[in-house]
Amino acid sequence: MNMPQISLPDGESAPAYGQGTWHMGESRSRFADEAAALKLGIDLGITLIDTAEMYGNGVAEEIVAEAAKGRRDELFIVSKVLPYNASRNSTIDACERSLKRLKTDRIDLYLLHWRGSYPFAETLAAFDKLKQQGKIRHHGVSNFDRNDMEEWSRIAGGETVASNQILYNLARRGPEWEVLPWCRKRNISIMAYSPIEQGRMLGHKALGEVAARHGATSAQVALAWLLRQDGMIVIPKASRQEHVRENLGALDLKLTQQDLADLDRAFPPTKGRTSLGML
Ligand SMILES: NC(=O)c1ccc[n+]([C@@H]2O[C@H](COP(=O)([O-])OP(=O)(O)OC[C@H]3O[C@@H](n4cnc5c(N)ncnc54)[C@H](OP(=O)(O)O)[C@@H]3O)[C@@H](O)[C@H]2O)c1
Repeated sequence: MNMPQISLPDGESAPAYGQGTWHMGESRSRFADEAAALKLGIDLGITLIDTAEMYGNGVAEEIVAEAAKGRRDELFIVSKVLPYNASRNSTIDACERSLKRLKTDRIDLYLLHWRGSYPFAETLAAFDKLKQQGKIRHHGVSNFDRNDMEEWSRIAGGETVASNQILYNLARRGPEWEVLPWCRKRNISIMAYSPIEQGRMLGHKALGEVAARHGATSAQVALAWLLRQDGMIVIPKASRQEHVRENLGALDLKLTQQDLADLDRAFPPTKGRTSLGML
């Protein structure tokens, strides 16, 4: 499959579509099924996987390792350090624990999960050291609003930030006001999390109508709406194999001007600045 790519600020590329893993690893009895869903995704060509030390208390990273067995070099693995661990030394320790659980020697993109109380300079110093050691290839942030992005980028080394992972979907258009254009201007990629609003938006009439015109599903329309945007990485989570297959169909769906106008009417852009949502 020809997976669309986006370019990172340093000119490297990354897949525009990946698999999320939040809520995986929360029950040992589902471990095998969750790994099988991720593995199916990899078999179908989805090489980016988003995880975090927080998910399933580390078990989601073990599930990624299970799914990725023997395939590491094909993958682009994203993980995150919790803000409570984001001091200079603890970030390094947290990353090393993640590497062990992921059974790999490197994380492709390592993010600060959200802003906590440690100064950004401490976390950045740790990210720099991890880069020098080859343990992470790129660093990024998550749940950062424009002000956070500006503050982070002003610190030496902060300008190399590769991505900001935020809550962004048709029903959450606040980021379009400030943080999206700010990042785009600097070629900083956006990872849109909860791209189908954890399933809650799928019953919306307008989504169903657009989907029907294409013989597609509501989830595919919601994902295609994000995928058409430059510099956007979209990471739906699916632990059911039928969802993995269905969502991937979004890559073949091209929305028309009429579709986009109808979606704008049903999910209007926010008028004015709103604070960034977070799930
Ligand atoms: N940085 C952050 O703070 C942050 C916050 C939230 C999420 N994330 C990342 O973003 C990823 C995606 O977000 P998310 O997991 O919150 O929400 P999501 O991807 O919008 O939705 C996931 C939910 O929708 C269901 N689903 C998937 N495809 C479906 C389909 N075609 N039809 C109906 N239901 C479908 C899944 O069910 P099944 O699992 O049963 O298939 C799951 O319950 C996360 O997994 C995580 O990696 C990051």
